[in-house]
Amino acid sequence: MTEAIPGTRVRLQVNGQPHELDLDNRTTLLDALREHLGLTGAKKGCDHGQCGACTVLADGRRINACLVFAVAAQDVEIQTIEGMSYDGTPHPMQQAFLDRDAFQCGYCTPGQICSAVGMLEEFDQGWPSAVTAGEQPTALEADEVRERMSGNLCRCGAYMNIVPAILDVAVSSARGLTPPGPPAPRSAAPQKPPAGGAAPGSRAVTS
Ligand code: FES
Ligand code: FES
Repeated sequence: MTEAIPGTRVRLQVNGQPHELDLDNRTTLLDALREHLGLTGAKKGCDHGQCGACTVLADGRRINACLVFAVAAQDVEIQTIEGMSYDGTPHPMQQAFLDRDAFQCGYCTPGQICSAVGMLEEFDQGWPSAVTAGEQPTALEADEVRERMSGNLCRCGAYMNIVPAILDVAVSSARGLTPPGPPAPRSAAPQKPPAGGAAPGSRAVTS
């Protein structure tokens, strides 16, 4: 006798839109997005949390969608690359990738862009990285960007242009020139910023 596969009515909030899906409990967020909602921007590279191609934002925080069950993503606002542009205007990070030609095949690019947007938010919150001297970062240098983006692999090796593209956005936003972006998620702040983290907008940038 064939055993019934347990399923659940899952409510997801994606790019500002509510969705209800009847899903096998084992369905990952990545498969829910790609196979059930038709949002194929987030890519399946390794399906094991190793490559970052599936990166999306959950309440503004970057996550690997292949490592999260859809049933566990019901209480957060999910933002995918499809929700990055606003009213026909590309997100500044998307525009910077275009301006810097920061891709070849483009397979990793949606994950790179989502990850970069989340990474800059983490930096503004004062989160240190493995190469940060001291407890808090004071300047966003190329080494910091490389380390903080090390979870996003590019098989084409476009890193030479990806890092400058991210720094372009960091520079413009540090100068208060951030172009219009997508609507703010319900909670854009990472959950546990270190005590005394740098205030948003205080980002210093050196390339
Ligand atoms: S597909 Fe999720 S990390 Fe590679
Ligand atoms: S642009 Fe091809 S994998 Fe990154």
